[in-house]
Amino acid sequence: MENKNKKAKLLILISGGGSNMDAVICACAAGQLNAEVAAVVSSNHTAGGLEKAKKHNIPTYVCAKSDFETEAKRDKKIAEIAACLAVDYIVLAGYQGIVTPVLIDKYKDKIINIHPSLLPKFGGKNFFGLNVHRAVLHSGDKISGATVHFVDQNIDTGKIILQATVDVLPADTPDDLQKRVLSIEHSLLISALKTLVE
Ligand code: GRF
Repeated sequence: MENKNKKAKLLILISGGGSNMDAVICACAAGQLNAEVAAVVSSNHTAGGLEKAKKHNIPTYVCAKSDFETEAKRDKKIAEIAACLAVDYIVLAGYQGIVTPVLIDKYKDKIINIHPSLLPKFGGKNFFGLNVHRAVLHSGDKISGATVHFVDQNIDTGKIILQATVDVLPADTPDDLQKRVLSIEHSLLISALKTLVE
């Protein structure tokens, strides 16, 4: 950014509980991150993250797939929100929507995603939620983790910004592994954002 003291403006996209979103909002409020969350967009009317964002007085929007004819039209709306707020980065934090070129082309190298595996392993269309952790356990891998990467036109293939690992333990269920990975995601996402905004 040109002015080092200027806070980067973030738009966070969520679909669920929003614990990563909450961690980013708190890091901004605590001054750990030279950024501010301008708004949160959920792809889901009942996402738990919406209430969390409202508690922090962050403006929220819902852009559910069912409210638009196409994903491109949804992204046009999200791009309008982003432009209106003059955001610098778009952060996908547990966002389950497909991001189309309508958004990617406008925010090239400005959209990042957090994924709960060590990409390029266990990434792509069917790797979301517990599916990721089931596949890791099935593979016999002894290490898993999370990845923050830029978003490109394919799913989970963009340039990697940062990764962190966790052990996979012999008795792990997919749920156990999901919880262990989520426990490192928050600081990983904040560290990755730091590299972008500072
Ligand atoms: C996280 O595991 C994230 O990596 C994945 O979805 C989960 C969302 O968690 N994309 P939360 O909504 O941030 O709590």
